[in-house]
Amino acid sequence: MKNSELTGRAVAVTGGAQGLGRALVERFLDEGCRVVAGDLQEAQLRTLSDELSARYGGDRIAAVRCDVTCESEVETLVATCLRQFGALDAFIANAGILISGPLVEFDAAKWRKVMEVNLVGQMLCMKHALRAMAQAGRGAYVQINSKSGKKGSFKNSAYAASKFGAIGLMQSAALEMAELGVRVNAVCPGNLLDSPLWKDSLFKQYAQNQGVTEAEIRRRYIDQAPMKRSCQYEDVCNVVAFLASDASGYMTGQALNVTGGQEMR
Ligand SMILES: NC(=O)c1ccc[n+]([C@@H]2O[C@H](COP(=O)([O-])OP(=O)(O)OC[C@H]3O[C@@H](n4cnc5c(N)ncnc54)[C@H](O)[C@@H]3O)[C@@H](O)[C@H]2O)c1
Repeated sequence: MKNSELTGRAVAVTGGAQGLGRALVERFLDEGCRVVAGDLQEAQLRTLSDELSARYGGDRIAAVRCDVTCESEVETLVATCLRQFGALDAFIANAGILISGPLVEFDAAKWRKVMEVNLVGQMLCMKHALRAMAQAGRGAYVQINSKSGKKGSFKNSAYAASKFGAIGLMQSAALEMAELGVRVNAVCPGNLLDSPLWKDSLFKQYAQNQGVTEAEIRRRYIDQAPMKRSCQYEDVCNVVAFLASDASGYMTGQALNVTGGQEMR
């Protein structure tokens, strides 16, 4: 389902080299936008840029190294979008990491790392993206959060705490931006069980933490969603495109669940 009013908009996406971030980059290109993808995986970014330039045209896609925990690299991402595309209409703050484990054994450095990427990284992206949008008097910032930003997550304290914090940050930013023509919202996806995050890492981590097989973990997580299916990239992209567009023009400070009914608050 496309949203033709997004045609021509300039969009930046963090964590755009793979997974949901890449799906978002492709969705905005499909919508007719011009897109800057940032990520810390430089080789994967180059591949993405080559593939998508061939498909959509080199003048509609840019790729820059951007570690969201590094302020100067976040500034570069915003500056690239402004310089190459003349605007920053939407900023999609998607980069995030997950390290799970029992709280009483959690390594403090790993806990801090999750906070640094998922919370401090969001703050740095807001600082620079919202500044540019406020100057232009328009823009939509969309934070990719999680259902773990609404409800505690078993042996997943760092991730849940970072995502809860990011909702407080999003709501506070929305208040600061409300009169400046800039909207700030979040999307809280359910479990994207076919994503690399699950396939390469979470099934293993959770099977180990919970003492069951990876197949059993998949069955348990599907069973938790009332709609009895995994969240898909398209489910999330549809809502992000809506929040990036003027169709959501009277919405700010919201965290929308895309969870098949698993989270209702
Ligand atoms: N996969 C899921 O089930 C799920 C569910 C709910 C929410 N989310 C959220 O969606 C977002 C994307 O997750 P995903 O499943 O695509 O994960 P992923 O691990 O497949 O992709 C994350 C991307 O972010 C990049 N990244 C990591 N640290 C970064 C940093 N410091 N700076 C810039 N980029 C960085 C990675 O290189 C990678 O390209 C995350 O915010 C995650 O919390 C995912």
